Amino acid sequence: MTKLSNLVKKADGESRELSATSPAPPPTRAIISGSNEQVQQIRSLYETAVDRLEDALSTVRNGGGTPDFDAPWAAAQQLLPVIETSKRILLGLVARDYNEKTVAYHSINVFVLTVHAADGLSQSTDEQITLARAALYHDIGMALVPNEIVGKKRALSAAEEAEVRKHSDHGAGLLAGLGNDLLCALLKQSHERVDGKGYPAGLHDQDIHPLAKLLHAADSYEAIVHRRAYKFRLSPYEAMKTIKSGVGTHFGQEAFRLLLKAVGAFPIGTLVELNTRERSKVVDNNAEQLLRPAVAILTGPDGADLPAARFLDLSESTGVYVARALVDEELQEKSIDIF
Ligand SMILES: [Fe+2]
Ligand SMILES: [Fe+2]
Repeated sequence: MTKLSNLVKKADGESRELSATSPAPPPTRAIISGSNEQVQQIRSLYETAVDRLEDALSTVRNGGGTPDFDAPWAAAQQLLPVIETSKRILLGLVARDYNEKTVAYHSINVFVLTVHAADGLSQSTDEQITLARAALYHDIGMALVPNEIVGKKRALSAAEEAEVRKHSDHGAGLLAGLGNDLLCALLKQSHERVDGKGYPAGLHDQDIHPLAKLLHAADSYEAIVHRRAYKFRLSPYEAMKTIKSGVGTHFGQEAFRLLLKAVGAFPIGTLVELNTRERSKVVDNNAEQLLRPAVAILTGPDGADLPAARFLDLSESTGVYVARALVDEELQEKSIDIF
């Protein structure tokens, strides 16, 4: 049994079997077509978690003080078995754009990425649960940053940046009543950098909790692959290259390794060209073969659109491999929503 399975059981407080709530994965073509009932069920769980977290954020934004932390956690827990059994569907959702409820979508995505990546860690189940809760609530303190700063469509001034940087302390303050020191420490340390140039405390590598380093890497990856009002997004492949280039300055080596194992060298949503010159979108990854994802082939070798996407698992296919990752613009018109 994997550690993630243990986490599901512990978080539920009961020993229910995963299979009782997790139907078998559908055929990949069904995932691509979007007609599958399971995709809709998972999407519904995902959107519910976003909504419950948005409720908590709204409570804080509106001066309501400490929000109901149980409802978002209960909703997010519903995603735990999905991370184990249907991660490709969930990671596909994580890769989608969002234009509203930015902190809530971002936080649920960071929750999914962090929990998935942490399955390779050896910490105790209690620590896993605390990490999952820290990921869920890591930006709750943004609700105490003035709205006019959070919604700005240009780079922030130094004074505004200083206000934003208070959000990790704000969050730890909001969660202090739960009496979980590790939870608060992970929130506080989620923007610390291994070279000591992070915030709020400027901690160095050895003083940052390993789980906070993982949270930082997953948080950064999620932010890089999504648009914000003030910045463009990078492709998932470019985002992983960016995280890799930050190892030793921003990020710890182990945190990068865990994230890479979780999302792959060509994460879901990456547009790639195969050695056959067919252009494709990554729809799944294999933790054992990071360079050989499963893809939906969108064009023929001549660049002409196929009438329907063709699925190919490169880990099972000899002779066909990813020649290069494409920047979005190269396949903008041909990109598909994998649902
Ligand atoms: Fe943050
Ligand atoms: Fe964040």
